[in-house]
Amino acid sequence: MRKVLVTGGSGFIGSNFIRWLLKHRSLEVENLDNFTYAGNRANLKDLEANPRYHLTEGDVADPKKAALALKDCGAVVHFAAETHVDRSIVDSSSFLRTNVLGTHVLLEAAKAAGVEKFVHISTDEVYGSLEQGAADESFPLHPNSPYSASKAGADHLVSAYGITHRLPAVILRASNNYGPYQFPEKFLPLMITNALEGIPLPIYGDGRYVREWLFVEDFCEAVGLALEKGVPGEIYNVGSGEHQVNLEVAGMILRALGKPQDLLQHVTDRPGHDRRYALRSDKIRALGWSPAHQFPEGLQATMEWYRQNERWWRPLKARAWLPPNLPARA
Ligand code: TYD
Repeated sequence: MRKVLVTGGSGFIGSNFIRWLLKHRSLEVENLDNFTYAGNRANLKDLEANPRYHLTEGDVADPKKAALALKDCGAVVHFAAETHVDRSIVDSSSFLRTNVLGTHVLLEAAKAAGVEKFVHISTDEVYGSLEQGAADESFPLHPNSPYSASKAGADHLVSAYGITHRLPAVILRASNNYGPYQFPEKFLPLMITNALEGIPLPIYGDGRYVREWLFVEDFCEAVGLALEKGVPGEIYNVGSGEHQVNLEVAGMILRALGKPQDLLQHVTDRPGHDRRYALRSDKIRALGWSPAHQFPEGLQATMEWYRQNERWWRPLKARAWLPPNLPARA
């Protein structure tokens, strides 16, 4: 295999993965991206002169574009998705179109092209909220938001294409990723950039919600491993095992950036807010993966990146989704 198609390669995890792949492998990359609000040309600007990097601008749900982008590619890594839960609560139509129909279009194109591997990127959110314990890959799906329901639908389609059409597909269900280039409406970059700006940090509800934080570079390693060694038909959870309470994370950020704790501002909770996500990731570990970054170190590196890249995030914040009861910014 000479070339890989990466969908959504200009988004947060996609752009980190393309950077990782060009650095650690000798493959060529075709990036199919539609440049929605979250896909940003600036994320891969420095790669435009790289002869191993190619870009097809277009919608993953457009069969012609999908087929065109797949030309000469031996494998697919499918990141393209609408991902912000709050946006899916206000209007879920783009979530169904991109996440479900887009995945279907891509599966059809991959089937026709006869790819060697189809790596589908999914999320721990498909298992729903876990009060205790951790979900392994056979845990029942219980998506609670329109976003996670659309991802669960896509996962089922991918599995069905594996069984019915013998498409060599692998599904990765990741826990919350964080790191450079994450759109500043997601929790960690929103907390960091608000702290840098000295404006309130909106904490949903009581803030005692738990997420399993995974440094994006560690996830990129897992995606690379799945591309090479993932067994077709298998699902792999990818979690760091490091669980953090939102309120405590926001407090850590304020302390690290030398800002007062009274910037924490409790706001109305997200409807249907999942209390806790937790994954059992033994299967991907058995394949040879383990995270190289621990949360305090990854968070420090991420805060430093946002501190140094204000020119990147400042214009994006104007397009960020904000909780409705947060005082408007001056
Ligand atoms: P988010 O980044 O939206 O990811 P997830 O898909 O896991 O919900 O949010 C992470 C957690 O942070 C989640 O519990 C919701 C919470 N949160 C806030 O408290 N305030 C915010 O402004 C945002 C965006 C999220």
